[in-house]
Amino acid sequence: MPQYIFALGRIPAISIAELYHVLPTLAPAKPGQLLFRRLFQNWLLVDTPAELPDPQELLNRLGGSTKIIRLEQEGLSAKELPTHLSALAERTFEGREDKVRYAVSIYNLANNPDKILKSCLLETKKKLKASGLSSRFINNNFHNPPTAQLAGEKILSKGAEFCALEVDKKWLLGRTIAIQDINAYSRRDYERPERDPKQGMLPPKLAQILLNLSGATPGDTVYDPFCGIGTVLQEGLLMGINVIGSDISADNIKKTRQNIDWLKKEYLPRAESHRDKALPDLRLFNKDATLISKSDLPKPPAAIVTETFLGPPVSQLPPESQIELNLAKVEHLIYGFLEQIRPLVGPETRLAMTILCYKNGPQLIRLEHLLNELPQLGYERTEILFPEVLKELNLPEQNRYGLIYDRPDQIVAREIVVLKPV
Ligand SMILES: C[S@@+](CC[C@H](N)C(=O)[O-])C[C@H]1O[C@@H](n2cnc3c(N)ncnc32)[C@H](O)[C@@H]1O
Repeated sequence: MPQYIFALGRIPAISIAELYHVLPTLAPAKPGQLLFRRLFQNWLLVDTPAELPDPQELLNRLGGSTKIIRLEQEGLSAKELPTHLSALAERTFEGREDKVRYAVSIYNLANNPDKILKSCLLETKKKLKASGLSSRFINNNFHNPPTAQLAGEKILSKGAEFCALEVDKKWLLGRTIAIQDINAYSRRDYERPERDPKQGMLPPKLAQILLNLSGATPGDTVYDPFCGIGTVLQEGLLMGINVIGSDISADNIKKTRQNIDWLKKEYLPRAESHRDKALPDLRLFNKDATLISKSDLPKPPAAIVTETFLGPPVSQLPPESQIELNLAKVEHLIYGFLEQIRPLVGPETRLAMTILCYKNGPQLIRLEHLLNELPQLGYERTEILFPEVLKELNLPEQNRYGLIYDRPDQIVAREIVVLKPV
């Protein structure tokens, strides 16, 4: 079975949930075949029944992973590592006549990573030279190269990066097969014509995570009833998904249109996955989400993917009475939307949403009332992380139906939930 190591984003449970939903669609597995073998810090070791068909394309659509490494060897001692790493480099570059470039990254080692990195780099250089290969390593000062440098050097197309991770005093050795395209994310976030920091913008990576948790695949139709400036729609289009967006603000619909026009002009023609393919469909309209009718949504979408209204912007935790008021207002709005949309969704439609959640230090103030009312509205929460994964990876049980997306300094956090009609 091929084995891969995924470098996970800031919140590992969210990244794992995303992988658990996406990987089986690419490397189809019988139940129990896709094994999430181990989680060590931010690294997840996965066995898949088949090779991943296009790792870079996969990584481009994962909001929660930053690198994919193909595992080549495990159980190595620190002493054995440089020899095995240099042999892997030799195999990788066999037959190359140009000057090859390479990088080595060492992870997880608390003590002296530079020392071991140095011996891996020098041993590799020596071994490549002995086999008649001219080579150059790109590591500066015997440190791991940053992602921007790996991209700048085009390390995956022109050379290779070899990675070694220490787990329980033994080493895993592998070769990087995909690296996050940080420039593409920042272009999609910061260079689009319309942005609205006041509104609490949805990061493109979180939009991808929601789309992936919804189970939508290329050719499906996804609806965002609170589309704002169109982040979910833009990420959906890039994944080959047809999108419908609406918002109560006519101004935001205009901004979404401008952003999507920009995306089509600037981005889509260059996106690998869209070469020679017709662009997915886009439909936008201006409407209150609590008033959506069959004429707006004649056919049930495969999924509803949305960042719901997160309440008025706040820079510090509001007084308790204000919190209650804000929660009640937001709850009322989401309640009204869920009630209205219920007859318009099909049995297979999934609703992947972020909902408001305040943070008071370690305490979370959630939309409890709304979550308890879901059965009366004709929905239930689906499992985002399954019990066997929680157990295997030692993750808390509360991650099963809801995941919190936050930053340490934030007061307004988001709870990710996935609903299905019942
Ligand atoms: C948090 S923003 C969504 C952010 C969006 N996903 C993005 O990245 O641009 C919430 C949006 O909900 C819209 N909104 C608020 N109340 C609404 C309602 N009753 N019906 C539809 N949209 C509403 C606001 O205009 C705003 O654009």
